[in-house]
Amino acid sequence: MSRDGHFEPGRREMLRLAAGGAGLVALGWSPLDALAQTSLKIGTIGAGREGGALGTAFAKAGHKVMFSSRHPEALKDLVASAGPNASAGTVDQAVAFGDVILLVVPYTAVEQIGRDHGKALAAKRLVMDISNPIPRRDGEDFVKSVDAQGGPGLVTAKWLPGSHVVRGFNAIGSASVGADAKKSIGVPIAGDDQQAVALASSLIKEIGFEPVLVGGLAMGKYLRPGTPLAGEHSPAEIEKIAATLK
Ligand SMILES: NC(=O)c1ccc[n+]([C@@H]2O[C@H](COP(=O)([O-])OP(=O)(O)OC[C@H]3O[C@@H](n4cnc5c(N)ncnc54)[C@H](OP(=O)(O)O)[C@@H]3O)[C@@H](O)[C@H]2O)c1
Repeated sequence: MSRDGHFEPGRREMLRLAAGGAGLVALGWSPLDALAQTSLKIGTIGAGREGGALGTAFAKAGHKVMFSSRHPEALKDLVASAGPNASAGTVDQAVAFGDVILLVVPYTAVEQIGRDHGKALAAKRLVMDISNPIPRRDGEDFVKSVDAQGGPGLVTAKWLPGSHVVRGFNAIGSASVGADAKKSIGVPIAGDDQQAVALASSLIKEIGFEPVLVGGLAMGKYLRPGTPLAGEHSPAEIEKIAATLK
């Protein structure tokens, strides 16, 4: 931990971060630069079960969180329970507000969100993509089409061009996200942008989980319900499972 209580990666985490793509030192950038921050502004697109739970956890960890909905007036109870760091707005307002965006919507909404907000999202330090294509909810054909294009992860990056996307929390239920989160639970993450991965790792640590980088966004296809990485695993178990996946 650093002086301000934020996560500083040890050698093991550095190796995990470096495993995801181009070398960290190539541009003279230190991951500690990205992690040396205090309170961030986090906007959520989606404030349902999972977006509400994650936003609340980040607000309680000291970040300013703006939840969004197409009906922000419906978020009063959520804002009240998340405490003084929380507020609610429209999707436009949350996108403008956040340095970091949590994308927590049905996957069928992602393409349109990219059309409406892609330029603004590309300017953010991190878009954490928690959204999943789910056949029962989104339709078999839709999910097949996402998978044919490389799966969620690559498709999110395609629909949000230029955004610094990291997939995470995709198969950890809203009931497990919160003040009682167990330290031993790992969160598999996938991303191509080293700074965004470092920032996502720092944030995940702050709310009591252990980030484990399993690879670039192409590995995002395994970060969803129904895959071997779904559910709750220790970091060591995640590494072991991820080693069997391509
Ligand atoms: N629930 C879980 O435990 C869990 C765990 C991991 C991942 N996930 C994933 O997280 C995503 C959200 O799941 P959830 O369970 O939180 O769903 P939910 O409770 O139904 O909430 C969905 C949220 O998405 C918003 N939304 C829907 N369409 C939108 C659009 N076109 N533009 C902007 N916002 C839109 C809704 O906002 P409005 O108020 O505007 O309708 C609502 O806040 C899904 O992809 C799911 O697979 C869920």
